[in-house]
Amino acid sequence: MDISKLKPGTKAVWGGETKLFESGSHTIPIFNTVTFAYNDLDDWYDSALGKREGHIYSRNTNPTVAVLEEKMALLERTEEATSFSTGMAAISNTLFALLRPGNRVVTIKDTYGGTSRLFLEFMPEFGVEVTLCDTEDHDQLVGEIGKGCDLVYIESPTNPTLKIIDIARIAQASKAAGAISVIDNTFSSPVNQNPHELGIDLVIHSATKYLGGHSDTLCGLVCGSRELIQKIFAFREINGASLHAQTAYDVIRGMKTLELRVLRQNESALKIARYLNDHPKIENVFYPGLESHPGHDIARKQMSGFGGILSFELRGGYEAVKTMLHNLELVHLAASLGSVTTLAGPPRTTSHVELTEAQRADLGIPESLVRYSVGIENAGDLIDDLENALNKV
Ligand SMILES: Cc1ncc(COP(=O)(O)O)c(C=O)c1O
Repeated sequence: MDISKLKPGTKAVWGGETKLFESGSHTIPIFNTVTFAYNDLDDWYDSALGKREGHIYSRNTNPTVAVLEEKMALLERTEEATSFSTGMAAISNTLFALLRPGNRVVTIKDTYGGTSRLFLEFMPEFGVEVTLCDTEDHDQLVGEIGKGCDLVYIESPTNPTLKIIDIARIAQASKAAGAISVIDNTFSSPVNQNPHELGIDLVIHSATKYLGGHSDTLCGLVCGSRELIQKIFAFREINGASLHAQTAYDVIRGMKTLELRVLRQNESALKIARYLNDHPKIENVFYPGLESHPGHDIARKQMSGFGGILSFELRGGYEAVKTMLHNLELVHLAASLGSVTTLAGPPRTTSHVELTEAQRADLGIPESLVRYSVGIENAGDLIDDLENALNKV
């Protein structure tokens, strides 16, 4: 059977795991070893040169990690994938492996905070020119790409205001300019969106979020063509931001329920967004599944579900936010997202704490904004919890 033709839920369970493993093991063993020994020097030599299958050293490759990478390439419909110790390692290794002094990057203002620091602080120090565009201004983005660039980097939906970019349009413009296109697909997971199918070259995930799914592992993945992935892998081998076999196993286990979790989170987030949208104490709800969202039509075109993250603005400013958040009982007030547990926090004190109020306003992030990452709890219970907390405001 060709597993690449099957649906995401099946790929997440069986991808890389159809054969039986050592001693008939039904699940991939955790190869908890630094090195792989050989009885025959010629075999060792051939493995080291890639002339025969075989692992040498776990900073480079490891059988447990290889299963995760195969599963991920199947889910994102790419030739290959490679893994990293964190999502940020995946992003920085990709950029440092592909960019050289004198290169130019076109990106958006609303990238994840860590990524934004790479573009604003580190890349310029290495002689890479970075042009930031207004995230939803497609004409500006296409115009800047058309002026000539080496790499285009986007996210959609964005953090924390869920802005939507027309991925196929940006992929096409990048191709025409001869630039490598890269997207951070963390917010959607491969269940809701497959950017490679829309023409994007490299798809990055912080597997710390939906893929692992339980807020207990850090991991990053990059998916793309064999040629690009091998280039990034060659950099990671030496840079050393490798994934441990135990963590790879934890992510593999988490991914078995990826589709179940994401479909439920999509459904609950839409219910919660609609509930909040009708609430008199809520000024604004940001969720691409709402018909009123400015990116709704594009989102419908390129996403099969709208995701489990929404944000909303309270009437009454930051004091109202504090009262409401302190009265929620079915969330942890914490950074991160994509977990089985609902997590919430104001970008003002979490993801965008280092910016000034004016900088946040420039990104369209009001002081009274709350980001709410829906878990797998019962949606009715979450709405009751929100109702109770809003009554206290
Ligand atoms: C969209 C997005 N990309 C990347 C990252 C970085 O991932 P990690 O924390 O695994 O390094 C995060 C973390 O919050 C994120 O939200």
